[in-house]
Amino acid sequence: MSVQSGVRSLFDAALDRTIVGGYTRVGYQLRQSGWADDPAPGALQGRTALVTGANRGIGKAIAAGLARLGATVLLTVRDRDSGELARTEIIGSNSEADVAVEVCDMSDLSAVRAFAADLSTRVSELNVLVHNAGVLPSTRIETADQHEVTLATHVLGPLLLTECLVPILGAADDPRLILMSSGGMYTQSLPTDDPEYLDGRYSGVTAYARTKRMQVALTPILARRWAGEHIRVYSMHPGRADTPGVATSLPAFRNLTGPLLRTPEQAADTALWLAATQPAPPTGGFWHDRRPRPEHYLPFTRYSDRERQRLWRYCAYAVGIDNA
Ligand SMILES: NC(=O)c1ccc[n+]([C@@H]2O[C@H](COP(=O)([O-])OP(=O)(O)OC[C@H]3O[C@@H](n4cnc5c(N)ncnc54)[C@H](OP(=O)(O)O)[C@@H]3O)[C@@H](O)[C@H]2O)c1
Repeated sequence: MSVQSGVRSLFDAALDRTIVGGYTRVGYQLRQSGWADDPAPGALQGRTALVTGANRGIGKAIAAGLARLGATVLLTVRDRDSGELARTEIIGSNSEADVAVEVCDMSDLSAVRAFAADLSTRVSELNVLVHNAGVLPSTRIETADQHEVTLATHVLGPLLLTECLVPILGAADDPRLILMSSGGMYTQSLPTDDPEYLDGRYSGVTAYARTKRMQVALTPILARRWAGEHIRVYSMHPGRADTPGVATSLPAFRNLTGPLLRTPEQAADTALWLAATQPAPPTGGFWHDRRPRPEHYLPFTRYSDRERQRLWRYCAYAVGIDNA
């Protein structure tokens, strides 16, 4: 490592410990000046990518970015009309974009199974799968399968969809899976005893952060599970971005931090980089702004490997897959 890149690396790590510095557009702009590893133009030509929650916010920016890199992009949404609007918008700014709309409610396990079965008859190779769909509810909601909604949307749906798509992921060259977590996960440990948030007073913000923590905790297990199919698994956080979700769920936070928030395109950058940079980053880690990041900053959030495995067994059981 040169002195210059060593200093840059120390500076980058220090930024990560200051939420305002690291997570906002200030952090993005400071770090971006040191990047020399942009995905090559056309890096995803001839490849297929699926992005969930792609009708707005960061998911739409990721979909547009993947299309710019040449991928055929499957905008996967729960409302077809808003998916079609996003598709029109993406094609409006890039007439070459190859995008199609798919419908799946990621919190509904039967819908996920049916969608995966149907997709697998139409798509033979899937190179990139981005689990971006996210939700921050104001009250505790249970899905049709009786799972708490953030657990179903952020963890169980993505786990089941990926497992069902392993044959077409495994058939693709250099398949990569990205779980969109959140820096909010740094405030929570693994709720191994209560993954469905049945105990205590429910807080949507806590449920959101706990399930984003679960995504990060499960990443190394999923990386091992699918290593035989050469599927690389990454979790990441996008920083803090000004999106419709933030405007609706966290209006006070948005008013306070408005001008500092990232654009959806800035928040999408690391997902695009993980999807397309060469050589592929190592599987199994947690990323932000194109660098691996620690799983913990606070001592009380730490958990043992036994707890990680226990959560994994619960999730595997909940979606009906073996927990090997
Ligand atoms: N913005 C930030 O600062 C920030 C920070 C950290 C992490 N993140 C994460 O980044 C991702 C995108 O965030 P965002 O700010 O762009 O959020 P957003 O504006 O709220 O968009 C969320 C997307 O997820 C979709 N979605 C929600 N539940 C779904 C379900 N059951 N099935 C399918 N799609 C579903 C939404 O679709 P509908 O339009 O149908 O609701 C929407 O497209 C989320 O995972 C979020 O947790 C964001």
